[in-house]
This record gives sequence, structure tokens and C-alpha cells, in this order.
Amino acid sequence: MFSIISAIGKNNEIGKKGGLIFKIKDDMKFFRETTLDHKIIMGQNTWFSLPGKLKNRENIVVSLENLSGPDRIINNLDDFIKENQGTDEEIFIIGGGSIYKQFLPYTTNLYLTEVDGTDNEATVFFPEFDKTNYTKTLIKKGSENGLDYSIVKYTKK
Ligand SMILES: NC(=O)c1ccc[n+]([C@@H]2O[C@H](COP(=O)([O-])OP(=O)(O)OC[C@H]3O[C@@H](n4cnc5c(N)ncnc54)[C@H](OP(=O)(O)O)[C@@H]3O)[C@@H](O)[C@H]2O)c1
Repeated sequence: MFSIISAIGKNNEIGKKGGLIFKIKDDMKFFRETTLDHKIIMGQNTWFSLPGKLKNRENIVVSLENLSGPDRIINNLDDFIKENQGTDEEIFIIGGGSIYKQFLPYTTNLYLTEVDGTDNEATVFFPEFDKTNYTKTLIKKGSENGLDYSIVKYTKK
């Protein structure tokens, strides 16, 4: 099964200038703990935004290029989705915008850090989705550097 994990602003903003918008320590910790020992799937832009491979996870990058560095490259996304969507294993989709959009129809869980903030310089956004099709569970609420956030899990009904 596929699970999306993302931190999103009030206007669904997730990225700007090739990087993240919200840098919340507790969100980073939640991301690390949740994805540890799992496969993580990301687009090429997100891969290049990282300082390197994320440790103790299989780093899989969607790209038409033959990059060196990731554990695996996916160049045919449709085939990958067909082969993996029925598995019990939880595979994490970690961004960015183009990858969230392509996986969303096949995704069972969305772990979203909903940040009570906006950024007018945002260039990348989380795709719209119909929340009535999901059951929402609050994982935790917090506040860091004046930013309130809720970590929630949406599970497809
Ligand atoms: N807030 C968050 O939780 C979060 C999480 C992750 C990322 N982000 C942010 O999101 C932004 C990046 O998002 P993005 O949408 O620009 O880029 P992205 O989704 O990370 O990567 C897009 C690239 O992936 C490759 N790709 C995508 N779909 C493909 C397909 N079906 N087949 C082959 N290759 C494919 C393409 O590269 P090629 O065509 O060049 O091969 C495409 O240019 C950054 O600002 C990042 O910091 C935010």
C-alpha cells in the first residue's frame, strides 16, 4: 500500500525555491520515525533538495535520468504502481508536488502535518483531494516558533 507523508500550509503550499517551506523540528522527527526502515519514493527535484540519501530507508527516485546515488530509480511509474499497490508493505511517498499528484489516486493513507501558516512565495502545492472520502485521525497538535500545526492521518474509506 502507498502512504503519502507531507507538511502543508493553509493554501496547500509545500515548497519554494527548490526547498521546503516549513521547517518544524517535531515534523521532521515524525517524518523520520514514520518512514524509518521503509521504502521512500520521491521525485528527482526532491532528491536533489536533500543533502544525501536518507539513512535506514530505501531511497527510490522517480526520474527518466540514470542518476547515481539513490538505491533505485523508477523510470516507469505506471508499472511500479501496478506492481506495488496491492502489497501489505507500507511504501511512503515523500514528495514533491508532481509525485504526490501522480500517487494520490492509489494512496491509502495520508500523513499530513497541517501547518497554520502561509507563504506567498510558494511555487509547489499539495494536490486538492476530497476529504469526505477519508477518515481523519488526529495524531498530535503542537506549536513551534509561533507556528501551530496538527499532524493528522487521513485513511481512505
Ligand atoms: N512539504 C513537504 O512535505 C515536501 C516534501 C517533499 C518535497 N517538497 C518540496 O517540493 C518541491 C519539489 O516538488 P516538484 O513537484 O517540483 O518535484 P518532484 O516531484 O520532487 O520531482 C519532479 C521530477 O521527478 C521526475 N518525475 C516526476 N514524475 C515522473 C514520471 N512519471 N516519470 C519519470 N520521471 C518523473 C521528473 O524529473 P525528470 O523528468 O528530470 O527525470 C520531474 O521533473 C521542492 O520545493 C521540495 O522541497 C516538500
